[in-house]
Amino acid sequence: LKIEALAKLQEVADPQALNDLRVKYLGKKGELTEVLRGMGGLSAEERPVIGQVVNDVRGAIEEIITAKQEAFQQQETQNRLQAEKVDVTLPGRSMAQGGIHPLTRVVQEIEDIFIGMGYRVAEGPEVETDYYNFEALNLPKNHPARDMQDSFYLTDDLLMRTQTSPVQIRTMQGMKGEAPVKIICPGKVFRRDDDDATHSFQFHQVEGLVIGRNIRMSDLKGTLQQFVQEMFGPHTGIRLRPSFFPFTEPSVEVDVSCFKCGGDGCRLCKQTGWLEILGAGMVHPKVLEMGGYDPAEFSGFAFGMGVERIAMLKYGIDDIRNFYNNDMSFVKQFKGV
Ligand code: PHE
Repeated sequence: LKIEALAKLQEVADPQALNDLRVKYLGKKGELTEVLRGMGGLSAEERPVIGQVVNDVRGAIEEIITAKQEAFQQQETQNRLQAEKVDVTLPGRSMAQGGIHPLTRVVQEIEDIFIGMGYRVAEGPEVETDYYNFEALNLPKNHPARDMQDSFYLTDDLLMRTQTSPVQIRTMQGMKGEAPVKIICPGKVFRRDDDDATHSFQFHQVEGLVIGRNIRMSDLKGTLQQFVQEMFGPHTGIRLRPSFFPFTEPSVEVDVSCFKCGGDGCRLCKQTGWLEILGAGMVHPKVLEMGGYDPAEFSGFAFGMGVERIAMLKYGIDDIRNFYNNDMSFVKQFKGV
């Protein structure tokens, strides 16, 4: 019995079979238990001898079962470790990471510079009424200056705003005559232009408006000078040219010195050394009045800058369409700047 049991136990291949053998030999109805039951028929001398043998056999069987159980357990642990193995030397899988669009980045930079000068950021709707986009800005219906900005009309009275200047009126009316007013308003504007390297039917402006007592043209000039130096570097200059806007008087167009200019032709400023980036002026008395400010007591300046122009100069981009055609190899260049 012992030899047979030990041989079978040696060969056992899985925990279930091992358990079956344990029951077969040691269980209540097991073969060894049978032998013990039969001991009643033995003589007093035989009993301890046989008892000793049975105990030895039981001990040997138990020993081998325990050893086998341990071996099975170890095997299982090994299997699990093998299955859950992670090869930390494999190369990592890189995740696609987004970046900020160069236009967004430039708008944020403009905001930072003006916030540093005490301005607040305002917003206005992209779909605007004729009143805010034109009339309240001193551009009555049939005024010839409306031709400067071919518009997308949605209804007789609603259009896509052609400029961020309507936010001037909305801001003034919201302030209810309180001063000072110091805001910038970044946003999209829309004009019926044919797209080419320097024109886009949709582009971005940042409007600026300052209203207070004794605000003068020199304040406007100093503010813009400070702005371009922070934006483009300390050696950047500005140039003011007389111009016309119905909502400012006097009005100027402002050029910034073009440092991208190389000897062999600069497509940005067309070799002049200057690039126009904004329109500005002293807020027209009629506009002050429509905003709820008495021109006898208050004065102010306003400006509207083209974000694409500024971004093109800053990064040496010579085609405005690059901002809009979602060419990843273009956009990705601005991830780290
Ligand atoms: N709104 C003008 C434009 O789009 C720019 C401007 C803004 C001019 C504020 C003067 C004052 O051309």
